[in-house]
Amino acid sequence: MKKVLFVCLGNICRSPLAHGIFQRMVNDAGLSDEILVDSAGTASYHIGSLPDVRACKVSEEMGITLTHRARAFTQEHFQQFDYILAMDKQNLQNILILEPSTHKATVKLMRAYDIKHPNEDVPDPYYGELDGFVEVFDMLERSCDVLLKEIREQLSL
Ligand code: 4NP
Repeated sequence: MKKVLFVCLGNICRSPLAHGIFQRMVNDAGLSDEILVDSAGTASYHIGSLPDVRACKVSEEMGITLTHRARAFTQEHFQQFDYILAMDKQNLQNILILEPSTHKATVKLMRAYDIKHPNEDVPDPYYGELDGFVEVFDMLERSCDVLLKEIREQLSL
């Protein structure tokens, strides 16, 4: 079993999209008993909220319904997850501030898995238009695909 946590700032735009996209890929591969998917945010403004309506619209058009409720990233997540994937460098910094001295999680940028533009930020679409969410969806889909391949290799699945 591998456990993957996607992390952004508010947990209402980027990380719930990554969560929904990756969960769909895991389900389609028949691996939902082998890979657990979740998401969280480093800020607490939106705790308990459903994803942003624009994130829901873009994902719904791709056949993915987002049902996650925003929650905060906590230090305990370092013990609970094998992968902690930050949407941008600021989120990564916010995560690493809480890093305990020992844990086994792999902590890195989501776009470490983007073969087209490795290690770039997933841009914050919150203050932009709908097309920003479409772009985010595409880069997340590309990265999730590579992430799933890596985890399948690790699990020999
Ligand atoms: P997210 O986007 O980090 O991708 O969920 C944001 C959501 C809310 C805010 C900023 C970014 N905000 O400032 O409220």
